[in-house]
Amino acid sequence: MEQSVGIEVTVVRGGKREQVTLRHGENLLMALVQAGLPIEFFCTTGKCATCRLQMTIPDGSAAPASETERYRLGETAIGDGFRLSCQVYVTGPLTVYLPES
Ligand code: FES
Repeated sequence: MEQSVGIEVTVVRGGKREQVTLRHGENLLMALVQAGLPIEFFCTTGKCATCRLQMTIPDGSAAPASETERYRLGETAIGDGFRLSCQVYVTGPLTVYLPES
């Protein structure tokens, strides 16, 4: 029998932390939007970069940045932890930092 275990994503916003529980392999942007968090997005296909967010992703919690993300964000932003949240599929706990505004 398959057991469904939620993955805890920590969202840091304005100095406050909250937890959102995702399913294994769930899309990060869609899960956070469904949780009611104010995240701007447009294309959901990695083209517009509107969904750019800074995050801390431990090894194994999501695939490394794709070529698309590297192209849209640049290596400096990738090195600073920025990802296109619409391109992140969560496989383990991670932390997302939302802008305060
Ligand atoms: S919503 Fe356009 S790149 Fe993510």
